[in-house]
Amino acid sequence: MPVQGQDDYPRMPYQLPFPKDAQEEIVIPDAVAVDERVWVPQTENVSFRPLCLNRSQGYWMNLLRVRKSGVLSRHRHPQPVHGFVLKGRWHYLEHDWVAQEGGYVFEPPGETHTLVVPDDVDEMITYFQVNGVMLYVDPWGKTMGYEDVFTKIDMCRKHYEEVGLGADYVEQFIR
Ligand SMILES: [Fe+2]
Repeated sequence: MPVQGQDDYPRMPYQLPFPKDAQEEIVIPDAVAVDERVWVPQTENVSFRPLCLNRSQGYWMNLLRVRKSGVLSRHRHPQPVHGFVLKGRWHYLEHDWVAQEGGYVFEPPGETHTLVVPDDVDEMITYFQVNGVMLYVDPWGKTMGYEDVFTKIDMCRKHYEEVGLGADYVEQFIR
């Protein structure tokens, strides 16, 4: 078993081609996009910025941005979510903890929650990895709607077409 330090060629790059079936990497220098057109509006105060829309494994990575005292409607996650708060602060109506700037959260399968940004936070941005589906529900769990990687892709296409980037702009984020 090789151990760190026993490599005779520590600075020699890997010499073989990558698997021919491997997908292309995604590199986004301005992940927290300055160009407002890149942010896809969901509601008046909520928008998202796609990073990786993974249709082959059914998940999406995005930056969620909520301005003013916006709310992300109550929804259920049958699969896990990972989040890292880049800016601002938020909490769920269903939990007593607060997600703070620099903080990480793991949300296990079975979560149903409502994301709220407090009045004193102008803007929050959180990097979320969402798996499978988000089921929008009423307070008693009745399904009202859903989002998955395919509805996300559709929203991006429609928005990018409308703002002049072109529907194809979303293709760079799809894997
Ligand atoms: Fe959620």
